[in-house]
Amino acid sequence: MQLTENQQYSIQGIDPAELINQYGSPLYVYDGSTIRRKVSELQHAFSGINMKIKYACKANTNLSVLRLMREIGVELDVVSPGELEMGKLAGYEANQITFTPSGVPFHEVKAAIEDGAIVNVDSIPLLEWFGQEYGSSKPCLIRIKPNVAAGGNAKIMTAHADSKFGISVLLLDEILEVVKKYDIKIIGLHQHTGSDIKDAEPFLKVADILFETAKHFPDLEIIDLGGGFKVSYMPGDSITDMELLGRTISERFKTFCQEYGRELQLWFEPGKFLVSESGLLLATTTVVKEDPARNFVHIDSGLNHLIRPMMYGSYHHILNLSNPEGELKTYNVVGYICETDTFASDRELPQVRKGDILGFLNAGAYGFSMSSNYNARLRPAEVLVDNGQAKLVRRRETLEDLLKTQTDL
Ligand code: LLP
Repeated sequence: MQLTENQQYSIQGIDPAELINQYGSPLYVYDGSTIRRKVSELQHAFSGINMKIKYACKANTNLSVLRLMREIGVELDVVSPGELEMGKLAGYEANQITFTPSGVPFHEVKAAIEDGAIVNVDSIPLLEWFGQEYGSSKPCLIRIKPNVAAGGNAKIMTAHADSKFGISVLLLDEILEVVKKYDIKIIGLHQHTGSDIKDAEPFLKVADILFETAKHFPDLEIIDLGGGFKVSYMPGDSITDMELLGRTISERFKTFCQEYGRELQLWFEPGKFLVSESGLLLATTTVVKEDPARNFVHIDSGLNHLIRPMMYGSYHHILNLSNPEGELKTYNVVGYICETDTFASDRELPQVRKGDILGFLNAGAYGFSMSSNYNARLRPAEVLVDNGQAKLVRRRETLEDLLKTQTDL
């Protein structure tokens, strides 16, 4: 998104209002050039080592986004059979896809492995099952819980002692016992600390824990440090310093490889970092209500389309695209769902009028992918702007879509 000389916003030269005219409101719009930029930023930061990016596609599974990732050399991390299928539909070979389940039925793991994906084993029972099923005939990674608490809020921290994810590093002896019993071929150690992690320090801490743990596994090829880099949601937010992180982690990784006696590959699986900034949710104001307590701006969207503000109290910057130079006023921006779906409280915006188009920034990650049909509402369309061209990459849902799984019409 750029601000043009006459204070209008544009996405690669395209006026968002034009997109609303053409595809309707509300609308998710992704800027492909931002995704490309973020990928090269990450590649650049780790250019001194053998680093691979596995995009955590739970952030955004639109097939066109996945295809773009594939074209620019990014592989995939998936968490469900559905995401695996989407990866394959986007043209990925199964062996470019890592399956990182969280307590899923074992038949899902089996199907993914038979497909050719590699799995991040996340519990001792799954490791035991893997050993019985495959012995040393298939490789796997182990998801370690390093017992490190970091992340933007408690709901998105995934590596502290109380977290459900992974196998506690304190159970190393049990892990080794099962690995030995079935001669399991462990080719990688994985961990994911959490989301919205700004400082390099937690990344370094978990890296050291994995490097230490790695000494017990002689056949490793991969260390996977997960995702979680912080992006800027609020203007002026400090974010993960990728240059610093790249430099410090790369140095330690090189030392580790020397000690280990072999060149390994370092994997990261970011979601937000790659796609958050690329996305904009456009919505139209339906009612501006001047209540004695508050000025409410209602929009034709709600928690069914972007749940992050309600679920995590997340800040999403809002632009009044129709009146960027209007006088600043204070509003509560709310949705149309029969819940208190407040996008923003006491937010200063250029005067909002009925019919104005608002743009919610940083909606590319965990926006559409966390959307729902609550209140029997339809999901919006999605548009990808790439190489200066806007393309509809998902049509708006219809009432038929809403009804098609009901069997007693
Ligand atoms: N790897 C694993 C194993 C994960 O569980 C996740 C995110 C990622 C990578 C990517 O994390 P990221 O780079 O996107 O922070 N819905 C929440 C975020 C939940 C993330 C869940 N796991 C939000 O909107 O803030």
